[in-house]
Amino acid sequence: MKGEEEIKKICGEVIEKIRPDERERNKVKTVTDFIIAKINKKASEMGIEAHAISVGSTARNTWVSGEADIDIFIMFPADLPEEYLKEKGLALAKSISEKYEERYASHPYIHAYFYDAEGTEHEADIVPCFSVIDASRLKSAVDRTPFHNEYIVKRISGLEDEVLLLKQFLKSAGIYGSEQRRKGFSGYLCELLILRYSTFAELLRNASRWKYGERIDIEGRGKYKGEGKDPLIVIDPVDPKRNVAAAVSLDSFCRLIDAARDFLACPDASYFSTAEKKEMNKAEFIKLVKERGTEFVMVLFDAPDVVEDILFPQLRKAEASIARLIERNGFRIYRSDVSVEGDKAFFIFEFLVWNLPKVKKHIGPPVTSRYHSEQFKSKYASQQSLRIENGRYVVEIKRKHTNVVELLRNELRSCSLGKHVSESIDRGYEILKNEEIRFFEGIGAFFRHYFGFD
Ligand code: UTP
Ligand code: MN
Ligand code: MN
Repeated sequence: MKGEEEIKKICGEVIEKIRPDERERNKVKTVTDFIIAKINKKASEMGIEAHAISVGSTARNTWVSGEADIDIFIMFPADLPEEYLKEKGLALAKSISEKYEERYASHPYIHAYFYDAEGTEHEADIVPCFSVIDASRLKSAVDRTPFHNEYIVKRISGLEDEVLLLKQFLKSAGIYGSEQRRKGFSGYLCELLILRYSTFAELLRNASRWKYGERIDIEGRGKYKGEGKDPLIVIDPVDPKRNVAAAVSLDSFCRLIDAARDFLACPDASYFSTAEKKEMNKAEFIKLVKERGTEFVMVLFDAPDVVEDILFPQLRKAEASIARLIERNGFRIYRSDVSVEGDKAFFIFEFLVWNLPKVKKHIGPPVTSRYHSEQFKSKYASQQSLRIENGRYVVEIKRKHTNVVELLRNELRSCSLGKHVSESIDRGYEILKNEEIRFFEGIGAFFRHYFGFD
């Protein structure tokens, strides 16, 4: 079959570019061993009963060349209190590197920088966790990871290239990573999908036929009860009550299905390209807005100082609340989105209707409902516009806001914006319309993506 050969040829070429060579592998291994030895030595010096292990893609040879982040977990006995783990674990992690940041996912950890003999920088996530006896009996949210690692390490040998192809394909489609910003496919999920289907091409052939609620249960022991809620269910082999694909949004799920169909129909190396495309500039944006005939409004403010996994869900909730305010006032939204670029966060609304006349129809009770009719009539007795339409009283009243910017200036803060977003908005925000929208760093890439040019 021509198609199959073509896919083989393209994948063969791509894999040569994304597979780490021996030099890179050795470097990563040397740095990993160095970090582990240092943590273990420090631990015994500090009298801490803990040991470090290598996990994640660098422990499984499934990292894309040039993109290694070294994942190290520090295992503490499970009978220790959580406070101890937090305090000693972080102190230990900090003690081994000069340059580091404290980060927070579901759980605090250290992101540290190390330099090899040639001065190349390596980044590492150093995460303290409890060494629990069973992955379904967690003490902290990250205690499953060592079990994931063991499960994959035992099975993935020989399939690493297929995982790399899948990761690169998803990166190119913008759906790799389970963070809230992306809501895509995590590294572990990629590895499980390859274990299930053996090859990248076979995964794509299956994905091209996926239906909403697709269920994959490698060990056949799934106890997950979330059917109907998630577009994709992949039972965690080490914790059968958990869906590894819980973070995959409906749109990420559908983007994989769509990309799989397109690639199989017309295989091409461009499906693996992650080259940054040219950002849209302001002149191009303004031209597009004119052609569309819509109106854009940006609500811009300082990005709250919280991790993105907390910020993005809050921004999306706030976006929905603002959208309800807008529609309740008679305006019509065509599309909206949120993002964080650099130190700025923003909402974007694109409008079908952004101006309205002064007059507004206010619909009253059915005339047959005597009590309510009397109330309504006495309230609006002075209005000469009072009339009956389809059996109901109707009056014309004056619209409070005839322009959407005016509405937002006056009532934005009445929306439920969430703690961090509302605190930041209280400190100040701007409402910018069309050509007033500033093209600061990252905004060009945002709009290129918004208009579907990538
Ligand atoms: P990564 O996000 O580094 O993924 O998390 P990965 O599988 O190594 O893939 P790439 O190649 O880097 O993209 C590594 C492991 O550490 C866990 C994750 O669940 C994953 O199993 N982890 C990491 C946490 O549980 N919490 C953290 O804060 C960080
Ligand atoms: Mn990693
Ligand atoms: Mn990591």
